Amino acid sequence: MIARKVDSLINLMTLEEKIGQLTLFTSDWATTGPTIRDTYKADIQKGLCGNIFNAYTAAYTRDLQKVAVEQTRMKIPLLFGYDVIHGYKTIFPIPLGEAASWDLAAIEKSARVAATEATAAGLHWTFAPMVDIARDPRWGRIMEGAGEDTYLGSLIAAARVKGIQGENFNGTNTMLACVKHFAAYGAAQAGRDYHTVDMSERVLRETFLPPYKAAIDAGAHTVMTSFNELDGVPATGNVHLLHDILRDEWKFKGLVVTDYTSINEMIPHGVVANEKEAGELALNAGVDMDMQGAVYYNHLAQSVKEGKVNVAQIDQSVRYVLRIKYLLGLFEDPYRYSNVEREKSTILSKENQDAARDVSRKSIVLLKNDRNTLPIAKTGRTIAVIGPLADNKSELIGAWSGAGEPKDCVTLLQGIRAKAGGGKVEYAKGCTLDTMERTGFKAAVDLAKRSDIIVVAVGEKANMSGEAASRSMIGLPGVQMELVQQLVATGKPVVVVLMNGRPLVFPWIADNAAAIVETWFLGTQAGNAIADVLFGDYNPSGKLPITFPRNEGQIPIFYNMKYTGRPFDANNKYTSKYLDVPNTPQYPFGFGLSYTTFGYSDIKINKNTFTPREDLKISVTVTNTGKRDGEEVVQLYVRDLVGSVTRPVKELKGFQKIMLKAGESKEVTFTLTANDLKFYNRQMQWTYEPGDFDIFVGTNSADVKTTRVKLIE
Ligand code: GLC
Repeated sequence: MIARKVDSLINLMTLEEKIGQLTLFTSDWATTGPTIRDTYKADIQKGLCGNIFNAYTAAYTRDLQKVAVEQTRMKIPLLFGYDVIHGYKTIFPIPLGEAASWDLAAIEKSARVAATEATAAGLHWTFAPMVDIARDPRWGRIMEGAGEDTYLGSLIAAARVKGIQGENFNGTNTMLACVKHFAAYGAAQAGRDYHTVDMSERVLRETFLPPYKAAIDAGAHTVMTSFNELDGVPATGNVHLLHDILRDEWKFKGLVVTDYTSINEMIPHGVVANEKEAGELALNAGVDMDMQGAVYYNHLAQSVKEGKVNVAQIDQSVRYVLRIKYLLGLFEDPYRYSNVEREKSTILSKENQDAARDVSRKSIVLLKNDRNTLPIAKTGRTIAVIGPLADNKSELIGAWSGAGEPKDCVTLLQGIRAKAGGGKVEYAKGCTLDTMERTGFKAAVDLAKRSDIIVVAVGEKANMSGEAASRSMIGLPGVQMELVQQLVATGKPVVVVLMNGRPLVFPWIADNAAAIVETWFLGTQAGNAIADVLFGDYNPSGKLPITFPRNEGQIPIFYNMKYTGRPFDANNKYTSKYLDVPNTPQYPFGFGLSYTTFGYSDIKINKNTFTPREDLKISVTVTNTGKRDGEEVVQLYVRDLVGSVTRPVKELKGFQKIMLKAGESKEVTFTLTANDLKFYNRQMQWTYEPGDFDIFVGTNSADVKTTRVKLIE
């Protein structure tokens, strides 16, 4: 039905109008890249721009839509896109923080609320989820994904797509997802954004591609190409990625859009000499829509005349565009998403705020809690709240915070005051986030001396992570570390609350603070969510989705590395190690503490030898051995001891987040089959191989029970 309508429309369109549908320009309402064109309204009116991003609100989208559907020849409605990455107005934790919840329902809920608000503001399409696997914390966009692990990242990618797109587009609270950045953008050399990506086909397919595939299998309708080159060819002109893998192997039937001017950037990449060649390379590789580059806009008609691209290819791209506009119901009612009344009742609603607070609490990771410093009693204590992020609204929403506004945020100080009404709460900023100014130290230390407990909030500015925000040294900027050291020197218990977009390096704090709470950038409800944890109204349950290194020299460091031929041996010089730092991270993947403790029984397994036709049942009994109810993320890892190629020391193959009352025990069972053990063998075939496997179950990737099984033919 839709196909017929699309084809009849295409038959009526001129070549220029077709190219207009393949053109996406930004409005001047937001800057998310290096160029802005101020002619976008005129382009819409001439039918030369069929899609707009960075324009939002019901009123503004309605205005622009009116131009398209009333003043152009074909009256084809506009598609409105926007980066709704972790919330539209009600801002949720940065995606890396949400990943720390290991709670797929919470993550889907977050995406659902974001889509509900964004569509109420007239938006049809979000450039999310970003699913790039990243193992280098120097890379600023690590904040935008789900961390280092392929298995966790794939599940989260699918959850986010489901949250964004819902079951269908019959209502007006679901929108198009856009899987990005295809592909392997997170593997930028040296953690430097936009840098070269070069890896084996095996690592590409085993580690980096699965989350994109998971998002597409979850129904994502669009894919965005990445800025980086891969194996010498920019992703935006990469036939292997866009045609062989995406279309041929994965049977993707949706729309491929470029990243911001990434067609043009194939000139500096050095694979084309000019924009016209860049457009031809992109279109012939399989790129349907040109984001902001105006390359198709300026050159595609000429390329057709010269026979460098054919109209059939353009028609196919236009088909993808028109199809999703039909899917969204825009031809029936171009204004159906631009509803001012719905916008007013939906945005920043209490229901959405409550959801944000819940997801935020679940994203918090307790890294240290010596002498049960936490939770803090709500009464009878003088609490010093100190630090540049303690009463700071502007950083809480993090990078890629959509239309979120700092004024809507609850600061940590506000959250603490709202909880500890019975105690005395005093504040001192202490220092700034990134200057060498120390004049605030004295007031902060004096306050600390006359308090019972110190909560110090330190970390990064929101713009120190996100796009074009790589850092070569990932410690605390400015003089924050000195401030913390002076507070610890008072001898009072110091609780360090971290707010950051990436793993940071803070070995002194790890050794000397009484408690450390990783809170990422939690968004609008940050202060309330952190206070819920600090005062024990919520028992922290987060687990790190990314390894925290001891220092930058260890990078890249991730849990599922290889053994090497000379694995570290303290008794043998000639083994793989550093002279100045252990091989182990500050905090391993999957790490996170609770206010209670959990005990693990030995692993029970239904058979020590199994065949590809049998299920392996792996069970452990987990007991809450503490005094408080709490949640535990029970993690399952596997190691293939001998393969036709080397295999990681362990790989995540399952997890279950369970609630246990104090003293309660539960048996947790995982099912594994030979299919879960597949990898690309020496001939690059996706298969499993018989042999011995170590099975690990535990509370994080380093603290596990283990047993061994054998897979036979
Ligand atoms: C940016 C980002 C991309 C975003 C796009 C539109 O450069 O790389 O993730 O969706 O431009 O804002």
